[in-house]
Amino acid sequence: MTAARIAAPSATPGAGTDAAAWQHRHVLDLDDFTRAEIETVLDLADRMREVLDRRIARVPALRGYTVMNLFYEASTRTRASFELAGKVLGADVISLSASTASVQKGESLIDTVRTLRAIGADVIVMRHAASGAPYLAARHTDAAIVNAGDGAHAHPTQALLDLYTIRSHFGSLAGKRVVLIGDIAHSRVARSDMWGLAAMGAEVVVCGPPTLLPRGLRAADRPTHAAPALPAVTVETDIDRAIAGAHVVIALRLQSERQEGGLLPSLHEYAALYQVTAARLARAHPDHLLMHPGPKNEGIEIAGDVATGAHSIIEEQVTNGVAVRMALLYLLSGRTESPGGGPGSAAGSAVGGEARA
Ligand code: MLT
Repeated sequence: MTAARIAAPSATPGAGTDAAAWQHRHVLDLDDFTRAEIETVLDLADRMREVLDRRIARVPALRGYTVMNLFYEASTRTRASFELAGKVLGADVISLSASTASVQKGESLIDTVRTLRAIGADVIVMRHAASGAPYLAARHTDAAIVNAGDGAHAHPTQALLDLYTIRSHFGSLAGKRVVLIGDIAHSRVARSDMWGLAAMGAEVVVCGPPTLLPRGLRAADRPTHAAPALPAVTVETDIDRAIAGAHVVIALRLQSERQEGGLLPSLHEYAALYQVTAARLARAHPDHLLMHPGPKNEGIEIAGDVATGAHSIIEEQVTNGVAVRMALLYLLSGRTESPGGGPGSAAGSAVGGEARA
């Protein structure tokens, strides 16, 4: 893509996002995103939030563009928000799950993505139980691939919506103490969050029982000859120390579907030692935010009262997920303005004139 200005959804004079920083054909993880690229996505997501807040949240920015969701694993939020993101922008959206796709008949992942491209997919949003599956797909198709979660590896769109949500409260992530608590080893959200938060200058702390912390996380445990598999973070096994002074606490679900047995003595003991509770949050910064990527298990990693309490912004994360995914689809499309009336065009501004909800 060229260094064009991306038109803003509401045609506000002078508004727009600098696309110079955006160089991605795919969105596979955040380990190759610069801070400027992340800012580009978040700034555009701000414009997309404005579209979502309109009485009729529809713009024709991606008319003629086809988004295919290919989900080999269950999903509620990610899949629904990609569907809505595409529809709000006027794209054609088709969703397939592995139980209905020909994968049941033995079609390989490569055949499947090639077939979807042949049908007309411009972007394939993919969730797969195998870490690395979207990278394989990206090598075998010229459709854009978005990783909607691959095994225990990465979930970049969740991380971007987390960054967006934190930024919308604090204005900046720089210097903010962000603590991820729970099953760090098996959480793709944790990995992508770590990359994104580190790129944005946050102080990243991860906390969990030693058996649920990935190997090589502590700088001292890393091989010196290889590029780090994760950014430098502070590692804590004591939840009270981790939470002390935190601006943001992100509770993570135990990924039992990805855990081998014997990692925890019992769920009861795990909850006793690592559940995010009101008493523990009392040590956090007075204006702290409580987040969770969902689905959450109340009573295990998070107490029910704090999950719906005054500091919880869990539902806001979900709403912001639509805006962030709209921004990503728009950036991947390579469109800078839509002849049919994209965000910022004449038709876009006609939509922009409508009363807000
Ligand atoms: C994921 O797909 O990884 C979710 O967003 C988080 C979870 O399943 O715990």
